[in-house]
Amino acid sequence: MKKKLAVLISGSGTNLQSIIENVNSGFISNAEIAVVMSNNKDAYGLKRALNYKINTEVLEHSNFSSREAFEDELIRILNNYNIDFVVLAGFMRILTKNFISAFKNKIINIHPALLPSFQGEDAQVQAFKYGVKFAGCTVHFVDEGVDTGAIIVQAVVPVLQKDTEETLKKRILNQEHKILPYAIKLLTEDKLFLDGRKVLLLNQETDDMKDIFMINPYSDLS
Ligand code: GRF
Repeated sequence: MKKKLAVLISGSGTNLQSIIENVNSGFISNAEIAVVMSNNKDAYGLKRALNYKINTEVLEHSNFSSREAFEDELIRILNNYNIDFVVLAGFMRILTKNFISAFKNKIINIHPALLPSFQGEDAQVQAFKYGVKFAGCTVHFVDEGVDTGAIIVQAVVPVLQKDTEETLKKRILNQEHKILPYAIKLLTEDKLFLDGRKVLLLNQETDDMKDIFMINPYSDLS
């Protein structure tokens, strides 16, 4: 039985699009998107889901008297779909322990920075303004903190002198579209296990990446 995913969005849904394409290509072979849920009725990601005849639900947080009431309804809806994993793909609501405890170690999030650096909003801009030489993105388990859960996958990109906030955002987003489906594949094929804060791969021979390195600004210091 394939694992059932709920993908939570709030906006454009380019990460959702990447998940859909990777399910349809068979790269994500042991999961299906059971529902796409948005807290924003105008999220373009809802149209992306409908293009592929994927169930959609809209739950506008402004219709609820409290964060808990919103989350109780969200939990009820997701349980109706028998969800195994929840994927936050640009979902712009903070989730409380009320929701997180209902899906313990079953919620993952994509963040556009190399956590634990640059937590919170506009992470790409934070990194750009800080003047880092490498930026990137992270898929992590969601715990009760903000962007503090155990890290599953990260991708690193150089920051170039000619970069603008937009060119850096685009370079990071291109990597988000790769590592989120990859993390979902590992998770839904039961290839991951938690060792304290560390997320490790089952049956992983010694990872022979020891000689890989990047230097920015580039130099032939090899
Ligand atoms: C992505 O950059 C993601 O890292 C952040 O929100 C953005 C969502 O983009 N959390 P999209 O809706 O997937 O295009």
